[in-house]
Amino acid sequence: MRKEVKKAKKVSESAITTVRLMMPTDGNIMGNVFGGSIMKYVDEVAAMVAFRHAEKNCVTASIDRMNFLAPVYVGNILILKAAVNYVGRTSMEIGVRIEAQDPPSGKIVHTGSCYLTYVALDEKGRPTPVPKIIPETEEEKRRYREGLARRKMREAEIAALKRE
Ligand SMILES: CC(C)(COP(=O)(O)OP(=O)(O)OC[C@H]1O[C@@H](n2cnc3c(N)ncnc32)[C@H](O)[C@@H]1OP(=O)(O)O)[C@@H](O)C(=O)NCCC(=O)NCCS
Repeated sequence: MRKEVKKAKKVSESAITTVRLMMPTDGNIMGNVFGGSIMKYVDEVAAMVAFRHAEKNCVTASIDRMNFLAPVYVGNILILKAAVNYVGRTSMEIGVRIEAQDPPSGKIVHTGSCYLTYVALDEKGRPTPVPKIIPETEEEKRRYREGLARRKMREAEIAALKRE
């Protein structure tokens, strides 16, 4: 039986904050955490938000540029705050804010932010509609507007890639 697409969902219904202790396996011999480790955790948490919003299987369609504004060290607590910013027909932009906490001092540093796009798939692996979002707070409304602007830039980028 075909599953109905829910009309719209609140951003808070799928938002996730996770914490993870940075282990020696995440870092180099200097004690800095690899960018690739952070990207894996970012993709993981963003995918969970997409699954929760879509209530369907989703794949990563793109990951926008990622800047590492400050180092994360082995022994830090990595804090990832992820939420749906913008929803198209079958795709969703998830924003992830990355913070690192130094446990002895408790100090928290914003080390980067990243935007990822996921596409929901049906049983045959084809893009399938997802619920719209209801941005409630001023911050959610701003993120929605900015998500739409980024989507337009991605569309232009993809069109250019397809022409190559
Ligand atoms: C993502 C994927 C399913 C899109 O398939 P497609 O045939 O291009 O689908 P469509 O052209 O119908 O586009 C579907 C949606 O995806 C979006 N999209 C497609 N490629 C995109 C990209 N590179 N970046 C962002 N959004 C993208 C489209 O804008 C569209 O959004 P909308 O429905 O909200 O308007 C396909 O490219 C794919 O399977 N990629 C590989 C995914 C993967 O293996 N990821 C890594 C492991 S999870």
